[in-house]
Amino acid sequence: MSNILPTTVAPETFALHGSYDPLRSEGSVKPPLFATSTFVAGSAGELARWFRQAYGLDSGHPGQPDGLIYSRLVNPNLQICEERWAKFERAAQAALFASGMAAISTTLLTFCRPGDQILYSAPVYGGTDYLMTHLLPSFGIGTHAFLVTDGPVQVGELLRKALAAGPVRVVYVETPANPTLALADLRGIAAECASLDPRPIVVVDSTVLGPVFHRPLELGAQVVVHSATKSIGGHSDLIAGIVAGSNELVSTIKASRTILGTMADPHTAWLLLRSLEAYKVRVEAAEQKALKVARFLRAHPAVEKLYFPGFTEDAVQMARFDSQCEGHGSLMSFTVRGGRAEAYRVLDALAVVKLAVSLGGTESLAEHPRTHTHSDVTDADLDRFGVCEGMIRLSVGLEDADDVIADLKQALGRIG
Ligand SMILES: Cc1ncc(COP(=O)(O)O)c(C=O)c1O
Repeated sequence: MSNILPTTVAPETFALHGSYDPLRSEGSVKPPLFATSTFVAGSAGELARWFRQAYGLDSGHPGQPDGLIYSRLVNPNLQICEERWAKFERAAQAALFASGMAAISTTLLTFCRPGDQILYSAPVYGGTDYLMTHLLPSFGIGTHAFLVTDGPVQVGELLRKALAAGPVRVVYVETPANPTLALADLRGIAAECASLDPRPIVVVDSTVLGPVFHRPLELGAQVVVHSATKSIGGHSDLIAGIVAGSNELVSTIKASRTILGTMADPHTAWLLLRSLEAYKVRVEAAEQKALKVARFLRAHPAVEKLYFPGFTEDAVQMARFDSQCEGHGSLMSFTVRGGRAEAYRVLDALAVVKLAVSLGGTESLAEHPRTHTHSDVTDADLDRFGVCEGMIRLSVGLEDADDVIADLKQALGRIG
């Protein structure tokens, strides 16, 4: 039996067999959990050589040592998972983190120093908003928001304004945006960045759609980040993050990860290996159910507006969907007629759909962005971003779609 997998296999095939030789682990079909903090070396000299490679003491570039040293640097479960995920993303390399926020903050701290500037799209996930508006500025890093709906001309104008304050190192884009699901013009933004010297690194948070439906690296981004807590983990039983991109950029981010200690632990990586096996099947199935739910919500009289990629009358947004996305995903928001009281009444009446934050799990979840996930964003900003009082965010899971629809119907019946 040969354990050499052709490099041409599809990501979902690689997710089952790639980067792992069962015969090196007692024939175990599944990669075992390497629950160890440290690894034995054959000799003191060999261990010294690995350290020199890991820290780049000879080459000047921290890199992958020939052997395993310590699980903060690398662990087989992380390594297998990272190589399998890189295939989905069609990236040279990936890096696993303890959370989505660990992936985002480590990436930004890798490339930005006091005096540097970051442009970011808005709205973004509430934690990322806090990082941009409070934490990074407290380290002397300037941050400047543009609306995710803005076109490249407006982003270009803001880029030039930010440049007056210092070099723009990163343009950070969350697309589709959480919770409005609005899409950025990624190609246009990347083209604006490519015209600058030094060229800002375009970092995209692709948590909402993921690589089956949306591949930012093919649209001009250099780095993709995900909260792997969401559809990548997919079972709402772990917290993790992933970064993907070129060997050069991801190796640099990994070198910071080693020192900041923001890597995922082996058990999380092992759970993610389970998750990756059915990743494509899960997200495609959830999308089909979400489409049915979206059609129901769009037609319901108590629903004022539906926010779901590809379900829009806005011609600019529709053009961005058609040219950048290969699917709708399973996250949507909708506004109910009325305001917060009506939204709460619907949320409190749900039974099949659970009232909880997070998204991308096997179960359907709903929440009120304005007072839950995005409660740390100012009211003025929430108004500007269109996150209104009547908005409910819904992540559709793998329940029977008709059960989810019946649940939404009875809950919406409380207000209209
Ligand atoms: C779009 C997006 N990015 C990042 C994060 C942060 O991820 P984590 O909770 O895994 O740190 C979230 C969490 O909800 C998110 O929705």
